[in-house]
Amino acid sequence: PPQRPQIPKHQFCADLSQCLFDFVVQLLPTAEELAIKEDVRKLLERLIRTIEPDSRLLSFGSTANGFSLRNSDMDLCCLIDSEDRLPATDLVNMLGDLFARETKFHIKSLPHARIPIVKLSLDPKPGLPFGIACDIGFENRLALENTRLLMCYAMIDPARVRTLVLFLKVWCKRRKINSPYKGTLSSYGYVLLVIYFLMHVKNPPVLPNLQQIPPMRPISQEETHLNGHNVWFFDDINVLRQRWQSSNTESVAELLIDFFKFYSRDFTYNTGVISIRAGLLSKESKGWDNDPDKGTARERNRLCIEDPFEIDFNVARCVTRDGLYTIRGEFMRASRILAARPERAFIALAQLCE
Ligand code: GTP
Ligand code: MG
Repeated sequence: PPQRPQIPKHQFCADLSQCLFDFVVQLLPTAEELAIKEDVRKLLERLIRTIEPDSRLLSFGSTANGFSLRNSDMDLCCLIDSEDRLPATDLVNMLGDLFARETKFHIKSLPHARIPIVKLSLDPKPGLPFGIACDIGFENRLALENTRLLMCYAMIDPARVRTLVLFLKVWCKRRKINSPYKGTLSSYGYVLLVIYFLMHVKNPPVLPNLQQIPPMRPISQEETHLNGHNVWFFDDINVLRQRWQSSNTESVAELLIDFFKFYSRDFTYNTGVISIRAGLLSKESKGWDNDPDKGTARERNRLCIEDPFEIDFNVARCVTRDGLYTIRGEFMRASRILAARPERAFIALAQLCE
C-alpha cells in the first residue's frame, strides 16, 4: 500500500483521549443497576441480622472504589460488632440455608475455603440482562481499607485516573489476561499497576502518595493499625483537593501510551517489586527473589506487586511464568498498535480490545 504520512502525535492523542472518555462512559453501570445492587445489599443485610443482630454488610471492591464497570460482580463483607460471634464456618452454613429459603438466589456456601464465603447469583432477566453475582465474606477489614484507598486515588483526578483504570480493566478482560485462576492477574493487581505508574514512574507525578503524607494531628498506633498492618493513609479528600494539584498535564492518551511502553519495555520484572506505598523495591530486599533453591518462591514471585497494607503479601502471586509471558506480550502488542497511530483513534481502540 502507498505510504501515508503518520498523523502528528498531539493530534492522535487528542483524538484518542476523547475516544477513551466516550468508550468508558458507555461502560459505566447504569443508575438502575446501582439501585438494584443496593437493594440486594439491604435485603441480605436484613436477613443476616436475623442471625447476627449486630452485623453490617458492606460493599468493597469495584462497586465501592469508583472503578466499577457495567455488570461487575458485587463484593460484600460482613462485619459483626459483637464479642461472641459464631465461627465463620457455622455462619456460612447457616446463611447459605437462610438465603436459599428466603430468596431467589442460587446459593453456594464455601465454609471450608481459605476465606469462607457464601456465593449468590441471580439469572439474567429483563431489566437485569446480566444477572447478579455476589460474594459475601466475613471480617475482611483490610479489603475494606484497601477499597477506601483506591477510592481516594480515583477521586483525586477522576478524569484521568478513572478513565485509565476503567479502560485497562476492559482491555485486560477482552484480552483474557484477567484470571488469577489461570495464571494471570486480578483486577486489583491491574489497578495497582496503574497507580504505581501514575505515582512513581510519571515525573511530575499524576498522583500523590497518600500513605506517605503525614497526618495533620498526632495519631496513636491503635488508630493506624489493623491486625498488625499499618493501614493509615491521608483520606481527607477535600483538604487534598485544595492543597494538591499535579503539575503533570499529560492527556489520558499520552498516559496510556506511556503505561504500555513502561510495562512492556522498562519495568525490571526479574528483580523489581511494584509498591505503591514505597516505590520500586527489590525482590531481594523483600525475600521474594528467585533463589534457585526456593523453587516455589520463584514460581509465586514471577511478577511482584506489594499489597499497600499487607506488605508481605504479593498480590500477583498467582501469575505464572506463562501468564507473565502472555501479559508482557499483550503490553507489547498494545504499545505497537498505539505507536502505529492509525489515522482514526477509534480504530486503535478497537484493535486494542479485539
Ligand atoms: P472487578 O470485579 O473485575 O470489577 O474488579 P474489582 O475492582 O472488584 O477487583 P477484584 O475483584 O480483583 O478485587 C476486589 C477487592 O478484593 C479489591 O478491591 C480488594 O479489596 C480485594 N482483593 C482482591 N484481591 C486481593 C488480594 O490479592 N489481596 C488483598 N489484600 N485484597 C484483595
Ligand atoms: Mg469485584
